[in-house]
Amino acid sequence: MPAALEAILLVGGQGTRLRPLTLFTPKPLLPTAGVPFLAHQLARARAFGVRRIVFATSYKAAMFADAFGDGSAFDLEIEYVTEDTPLGTGGAIRNAARALTCPPDAPVLVLNGDILSGHDIGAQVRQHLSGDAALTLHLTEVEDASRFGCVPIDEDGRVLAFLEKTPNPVTNRINAGCYVFRRSVIDQIPDGQVVSVERETFPTLIESGGRVLGYADSSYWLDVGTPAAFVQGSCDLVLGALQSPALPGPPGESLLLPDAVVSPEAKVTGGTVVGARAIVGSGALVRGSVIADDATIAPGVTVVNSVVGRHATIAGGTILRDAVIGDTAVIGPNNELTSGARIWPGVTLPESAIRFTGDA
Ligand code: GDD
Ligand code: MG
Repeated sequence: MPAALEAILLVGGQGTRLRPLTLFTPKPLLPTAGVPFLAHQLARARAFGVRRIVFATSYKAAMFADAFGDGSAFDLEIEYVTEDTPLGTGGAIRNAARALTCPPDAPVLVLNGDILSGHDIGAQVRQHLSGDAALTLHLTEVEDASRFGCVPIDEDGRVLAFLEKTPNPVTNRINAGCYVFRRSVIDQIPDGQVVSVERETFPTLIESGGRVLGYADSSYWLDVGTPAAFVQGSCDLVLGALQSPALPGPPGESLLLPDAVVSPEAKVTGGTVVGARAIVGSGALVRGSVIADDATIAPGVTVVNSVVGRHATIAGGTILRDAVIGDTAVIGPNNELTSGARIWPGVTLPESAIRFTGDA
């Protein structure tokens, strides 16, 4: 394990599937278990020996430096490299590599910026070094591999193919979005062009006989790219299902941020976070949800597996289940929003406007 491992963090995506949450905040900065999502990834990377991280930014780039500065709060050195127009995952890695300081044969960790993973990064790096690999991919297993990069391996862990978002996956084993590259492999990606590592770099490297290994394990893993997964990730962190050094408090049924006011007659469970200065009224039932700063949940409201945005207000008798309420929205009394309903920021919904939106 090198003493000062360098990493590149891919955080330039638009987070389209998480709208409206990502209209004003990039996905990696969404408040998750009380801190920006990336804080969990940064703290874990630091714990495994990463000392310097280059952020490959594009969408809302300036917000990352505002949030993390020079990285000293994490005992990390953070550099920012911004693409004027998005260069794709491969182009972004190549572009960010100009801020690396390590020699050509050194290992470089590359992380997708929307993953919660409990895997042992140190073990992945060690496998890469002992196997003298060009590239070592962290692999996990999921039920539906068609939404990911499908990665068959042989019995020695050698990667046989890389099939991005294929309709008929040949295995449930997928690319978990954490790579160890030999630095010289990054330097061979064409510069200043749009390149996808998943559709171009990885398949080409494998087909040309490059030594690509899979580090397969079954630790906690989640891509928080959809509202349901985002809520689940936040709750899992609060509950301690994935331990994070960045969790601002002990794991438990709920996390109350400073000056949150929760009525003793409210029930707040399932890893719910209640944001700073947010209010939860008596008789309210909030389970497995993310309540953002300054939101108001009136007495008697039910919120399950949902997100309530900053300064949003939910009036009495309303039920939210698998719903996303944008910042500053006002949901009148006795509405029922379920099954993936999304209310855009600033919208006002009158009393009893929506009673049912799907198969609750
Ligand atoms: N800088 C930069 N520039 N970053 C980008 C760009 C870009 O043009 N495009 C995407 N990213 C970043 C995103 O911000 C995210 O952190 C990461 O690259 C992956 O992009 P996603 O949009 O989240 O991809 P995905 O979830 O559909 O698929 C990827 O992740 C899966 C695991 O969650 C692929 O790598 C799959 O193979 C993998 O299975
Ligand atoms: Mg993703």
